Amino acid sequence: MKLLVLASLLALAFAKHEEYIGWKSYYVGVSDADFNTFGSMIDKYELDILSHPISGREGVILVKPEHQAGFEQDAAAAGISVKVHREDVKKELDYDDMMLERHNRESFVRNGGRNLPYDSYQQIEAINNYIDYIGATYPNVAKVVNAANSFEGRPIKYLKISTTNFEDLSKPVIVIDGGIHAREWISPPTVTYAINKLVEDVTEPDLLNRFDWILLPVVNPDGYKFTFTNSRFWRKTRSTDQSSLSGFCPGVDGNRNFDFHFGTTGTSSSACSDIYPGSKAFSEVETRVVRDIIQENLARIALYLTMHSFGSMILYPWGHNGSFSHNAFGLHVVAVEMANAIDKESLPNFPRYIVGNSALVLNYGASGAAEDYAHSVGVPLSYTYELPGLSGGMQGFNLSPVHIQQVVRETWVGITAGARRAGDLFRQQ
Ligand code: ARG
Ligand code: ZN
Repeated sequence: MKLLVLASLLALAFAKHEEYIGWKSYYVGVSDADFNTFGSMIDKYELDILSHPISGREGVILVKPEHQAGFEQDAAAAGISVKVHREDVKKELDYDDMMLERHNRESFVRNGGRNLPYDSYQQIEAINNYIDYIGATYPNVAKVVNAANSFEGRPIKYLKISTTNFEDLSKPVIVIDGGIHAREWISPPTVTYAINKLVEDVTEPDLLNRFDWILLPVVNPDGYKFTFTNSRFWRKTRSTDQSSLSGFCPGVDGNRNFDFHFGTTGTSSSACSDIYPGSKAFSEVETRVVRDIIQENLARIALYLTMHSFGSMILYPWGHNGSFSHNAFGLHVVAVEMANAIDKESLPNFPRYIVGNSALVLNYGASGAAEDYAHSVGVPLSYTYELPGLSGGMQGFNLSPVHIQQVVRETWVGITAGARRAGDLFRQQ
């Protein structure tokens, strides 16, 4: 009997990631003149972009077996440099799973399952338990909000952290969310770590006293869960009510679903696409939670950060078309401040942070994104973080769990620099 259970567990383990059999990942280096060609190759070869190539820095993409030959040929013809990153994506994922298993086990042994791990990726259940634990243990500063249930019925939870119960209307509010894109596993831990630093391990009390904080680690719990149980590279929500194709191709790109130039640039009207924006703006309950947080606190939000990966970039509006906002200079200055603060704490094998307008840095415009929406309704400082990973010494799909600790620590330093500067600017308004 035991043997049978073991055998079926093993079979299950190896049955995982089968959709990626034959897939390869590539480094791509694109020069300024070739971004249009690269853009057309994304559609033609259904490229799945894990990290965007930008000027002077290569990206990492996934290519299905049937498109590899054509893709390599077209790239060579266009002068786009292409190097295989992983020959066998499935094998790499099986290996990553094995490592994650081990890290999970070891981390459990170390902390007895009490704390949220930073030496292993964080499961949605553990994050939700942690949020509840913080609310129950520190009721004077932390309030849990069960904002809504996701499409599949999981709670979408966030914490309001304040020494004055959100009643001192002169305090600036800082909002940080993560996990809108399911596969970007390094994002939620940067938000849970901020909770830890504001409530449990308070080394900078000024940040707790001076600001009110809203911290939402996982905007998209359904997608996040799905990347652990089913498809490692799932990006979208899991809704099935958006188009006649949605039953077969579920999900909406949350970061295209906000109401700002909705459905114009950087989207696809096919429900099967990874950048499908949904049937209408805020069609997804997950993005409505973020919208409502922004709207409810609008008069006081000094800084909004939304955490993504990968790329080591801090990006600001307008990302739909690369134009500059009235506050472009302020956006840039505070982004530089955050990036410098992070770089000082970073490791030599991590790439330096790049700062700029989202569409100009990435060489593509994308409409309906959270950071654009927040700015458009009046948040003065609004940014997308592309956290570190997948380059230099940090190859593999799961930024190795040994780097989580470093990323969350340095990102926290960036957040603190941004918060302080945003607070100063806010008072002067
Ligand atoms: N990688 C992110 C995405 O594709 C970047 C978003 C940048 N912001 C923007 N407004 N385009 O969603
Ligand atoms: Zn993302």
